[in-house]
Amino acid sequence: MASKTKKQAILIQSPKGMHDILPEDYELYQKVYEKAEEISEYYGFSPIQTPHLERTELFGASLGETSDIIEKQMYTLRTTGGNHLALRPEGTVGVMRAYLEHGMHTLPQPVMLRYKGSFFRHERPQKGRYREFQQFGLEIINEEKASAEAIVIKILTLTLEELGAGPIIVRINSLGDKDCKAGYRKDLLSYYRKKINGLCKSCQKRYKTNPLRLLDCKEEGCAEIKKEAPQMINYLCNPCKQHFKEVLEFLDSSGIPYFLDTYLVRGLDYYSRTVFEIFKDSKKKQEGEAENEVEETQIALGGGGRYDYLAKMLSRKDFPAIGGGLGVDRVVQLLKEKDAKAKTNKTPKVFFVQLGSAAKHKSLDIMEKFRKTHLSVAQSMGKDSLKGQMKIADKLNVPYALIMGQKEVMEESIIIHDMNSRAQETVSVDKVVEIIKQKIK
Ligand code: HAM
Repeated sequence: MASKTKKQAILIQSPKGMHDILPEDYELYQKVYEKAEEISEYYGFSPIQTPHLERTELFGASLGETSDIIEKQMYTLRTTGGNHLALRPEGTVGVMRAYLEHGMHTLPQPVMLRYKGSFFRHERPQKGRYREFQQFGLEIINEEKASAEAIVIKILTLTLEELGAGPIIVRINSLGDKDCKAGYRKDLLSYYRKKINGLCKSCQKRYKTNPLRLLDCKEEGCAEIKKEAPQMINYLCNPCKQHFKEVLEFLDSSGIPYFLDTYLVRGLDYYSRTVFEIFKDSKKKQEGEAENEVEETQIALGGGGRYDYLAKMLSRKDFPAIGGGLGVDRVVQLLKEKDAKAKTNKTPKVFFVQLGSAAKHKSLDIMEKFRKTHLSVAQSMGKDSLKGQMKIADKLNVPYALIMGQKEVMEESIIIHDMNSRAQETVSVDKVVEIIKQKIK
């Protein structure tokens, strides 16, 4: 019996790390997407939607066989026809695949695309880290100029600020191109060679497979060793140095707060040159003090970078590109913590109390009049008593309730009840929409 109850309890739980977006949060998710879309559309980004499933080898060929995503985080399946597919762990690769597949290089360049939706990574769930998560992404393909970095970072940070999620700060670095990166990798290996016994098990493996990722380890011992490690910035070749300088100049002139994190590497192998992450700026800057850190425990609200070699990894063509994404679940969480409620037109301003079946019939017609003027009206058709319906109106915190009973139906009138002062007035049904509109203006 007990085990049956346990089984049933599990049956109604969503899969680990995957969560429902309930009505009270849904509006906030919409608000984040709408703001990001509004700004990026203004800057010339067109929408694209790619499939949730892609061929597994597409990700293997681009994210790096030794990256965490490929090694342990992908949800893969085999179709009955024998094809190997994977749930997309991120969006950049699918967008680049679409660019190549549809010959978008024949369109006016660069091609600027935006997208949104669910992504999947089999990670250890924790606060702000899910196995299915929502992302809004931007990609500028076939553009090598530093201004492209500026546009992407500007849109992502502006979105956060305009949503009320600020202040934010950008952590930025350059990984160089394939030539200068190779010199850095060599020196990094030589530095870590003498310290290998002090590294954690995963880093001992990373040393052999993916040494740049040694810089990303949060283990105490590894973080200590990192402090003296060589820094990529000192290895940049002249063109990479010049490019990075221009990126930083753009950030300066756009007033985007940032700090240089010379150990920022990011978890996806397709990056070259600029990489960045966006954080909430929780350290209050003192007068005259430089912003140069974010708390180690903080999770990124967004991230991205340049991926000049991705097209070449998937095809024979070269298309330099840059992009970035916002973790929408994390942004929503932050907005909730800041108590920024989704204030949209959809938040009801009026509750419609209907008493008796004649009023309920009439109400559909009146609700429709409100809908046409984009005024959201809440109601509870299933409840009959005045007390029950007023209780809900109270809970919803609406400024006005409309009350219609048998008498009002006969007289073609309706009562407007001020929820704060409790004052009431009876008005004609024909005029009620206009009067409410004036009142809540
Ligand atoms: P990413 O840094 O892996 O980059 O993800 C971007 C953002 O998505 C992160 O900063 C974080 O806010 C959110 N995110 C990532 N994983 C999770 C998770 N498990 N749960 C909740 N939120 C998460 C990319 O995905 C790149 N495709 C971004 C990009 C676009 N680079 C170039 N173009």
